[in-house]
Amino acid sequence: MKSFFDTVFHRSSVRSFTSDPVTEEEVESLLKAAMAAPSAVNRQPWEFITITDKGILEKLADRLPYAKMAKMAPLGIVVCADPDLAHEGKIEYAVIDAACACENLLLAADALGLGAVWTAVYPQPGREAIVRDVLQMPQKIIPLAFIPIGRPRGEERPKDKYKAEKVHREKW
Ligand SMILES: Cc1cc2nc3c(=O)[nH]c(=O)nc-3n(C[C@H](O)[C@H](O)[C@H](O)COP(=O)(O)O)c2cc1C
Repeated sequence: MKSFFDTVFHRSSVRSFTSDPVTEEEVESLLKAAMAAPSAVNRQPWEFITITDKGILEKLADRLPYAKMAKMAPLGIVVCADPDLAHEGKIEYAVIDAACACENLLLAADALGLGAVWTAVYPQPGREAIVRDVLQMPQKIIPLAFIPIGRPRGEERPKDKYKAEKVHREKW
C-alpha cells in the first residue's frame, strides 16, 4: 500500500480503462474510504449507487456530456447527497459532505492501483435529471458525481498544482 503522500500526489483523473473487473473487495474498500470522510455534525448525508451493468454504464456515458469514458469502465459509482439527512437540512452541507466522500473515494482508488474520474452531475439540473431517470432515484436525492472506475490503461502524469502565491500568511 502506498503512503498517504504518495497517493495524494500520484492521483490524477483517469479516463481510459482496461476491461479487467474491479473486485468486490476493492469496491468495499472504496466505499469504506468514502464513508470515512468528515461531515458536518457527523450526519453522513450520503448514499452510493454502484453500477457494474454495462448497459447502464453505457446509458450514462451516452446521455451525460462529459462521461464518455464510462463506456469502457467496469465500475461506476454515483455519490449522492440527501439534504434531509444533512445538518440543518441544508443542501449545502449535504453537498459539501458528499464531496468529501468523493475525494476519499478518488484517493482510495489510486491507493488500490485503480483509476477514477469525477464527472460532474450536480449542479447541472439537466444532468441530475438524466441520472435520476437512468437509476430510478427519488427526486429529493442529489446525484452529486458519477465516478467511472477501473484499471488504468496507461500511466497518467499527475499535475503539480502547488502555487506559493495562493498561500496568505496571517492576512490576505
Ligand atoms: C466538480 C468536478 C467536476 C468534474 N467534472 C468532470 C467531468 O464532467 N468530466 C471529466 O472528464 N472530468 C471532470 N472532472 C475532473 C477534472 O477535470 C480534473 O479533476 C481536473 O482537470 C484536474 O485534473 P486531475 O484530477 O488529474 O488532477 C471534474 C472534477 C470536479 C472536482
